[in-house]
Amino acid sequence: MQNFSNKNVLLCVTGGIAAYKSAEIIRLFKKDEADVRVVMTESAKEFITPLTLQAVSGNEIHDSLLDIKAESAMGHIELAKWADLILIAPCTADSMSKIVYGRADDLMGALILASNAEIFIAPAMNMNMWLDKTTQENYKTLLSRGFSFIGPAEGEQACGDVGPGRMVEPIKIIELIKSALNQGPLSGKTITITAGPTREQIDPVRFISNNSSGKMGYAMASAAVEAGAIVNLISGPVTLLADKSVNLYKVNSADEMLEMSIKYMEDADVFIGCAAVSDYKSMDISDIKIKKEAADGLNIHLKKNKDILSTIAAKYPSAYHVGFAAETNNVDFNAKEKLVSKKVDMIISNDVSNTAIGFDVDDNEVNVITNKESIFLKKDKKIRIAREILNIISMKINKK
Ligand code: C5P
Repeated sequence: MQNFSNKNVLLCVTGGIAAYKSAEIIRLFKKDEADVRVVMTESAKEFITPLTLQAVSGNEIHDSLLDIKAESAMGHIELAKWADLILIAPCTADSMSKIVYGRADDLMGALILASNAEIFIAPAMNMNMWLDKTTQENYKTLLSRGFSFIGPAEGEQACGDVGPGRMVEPIKIIELIKSALNQGPLSGKTITITAGPTREQIDPVRFISNNSSGKMGYAMASAAVEAGAIVNLISGPVTLLADKSVNLYKVNSADEMLEMSIKYMEDADVFIGCAAVSDYKSMDISDIKIKKEAADGLNIHLKKNKDILSTIAAKYPSAYHVGFAAETNNVDFNAKEKLVSKKVDMIISNDVSNTAIGFDVDDNEVNVITNKESIFLKKDKKIRIAREILNIISMKINKK
């Protein structure tokens, strides 16, 4: 099951006795590699201190809409955009009604309106308050607007009543969110992705390579896991850590990458060639370190590497094939040409002459090109671009 690496989680804590459990929720999200920020309503602070949640989350608490200092650090709109998912836990009856009416008179209310993230609500209140007609109507309204509810659970309550209204236990909340996220558009699909550079040895200690960081390929792998896919990541030498749920296979040369790609395409539905494969390799790799004896230079004879992407496209024609094209000029023209020459379904093109995007940076800006259309994805973090690309791919293969 996927974890939350690369996920920005915004936990909104409102004023109920179960607020003391929010520290555990944060701990569990962090254990699963989420970056967690916490919003507290004024009444939440009566139940647990901001200092506790700040210490557990490792981030400053957000609690004010009108504080200039807080707004200049990370404004409420920025925070709303930062969040990949929002969890309101515990969520009181009052907070539910506030969300129904779209009130933005505090930070949480404003964030809920401003965010496009998926929002989970874990209600916690006295059973009679939960069963009250107004709360039930609010519950149905929020469900119909796409909010996801976790609980409430049944059992003994702080006030001694027994019935529905307890907040679901933190570990269960995390499990339920994970399985909700796993119902992604690529669940049941297997995706094989190549990433990073390849190394072509010329002798035991030297090689030809390039400065691909692997960031885009690793982001594609994380986004594919989030979308519910089983992911095989065939990676050249990079310093990145892969998402824990990814099946990672490390290789060096283009030949090894090809061999691994063939092996892990047997059961795969999609191939994404994100690696910057060395175009050439040495004709013969010296067994011993080449000495610097030749005074006026050294000739290394190179031969072409096999094109992994087009080999896979030819060998596994029923899969969906995606290539990346890093270009410095005539970006779209060259990308369209690659779509045809490599006989693939999609090419993602980007302009690597623009140093703010592409190689070894965290952002990218791409065109998604198929034989029918060209979709521009404007500059954003590679993980967000990857999610958009995977979304487009999922629409294509689910139609296929
Ligand atoms: O031809 P070019 O290198 O620009 O094509 C880029 C695309 O082809 C990328 O998807 C890359 O991973 C793939 N490729 C490959 N094997 C090669 C060269 C490129 O799979 N030998």
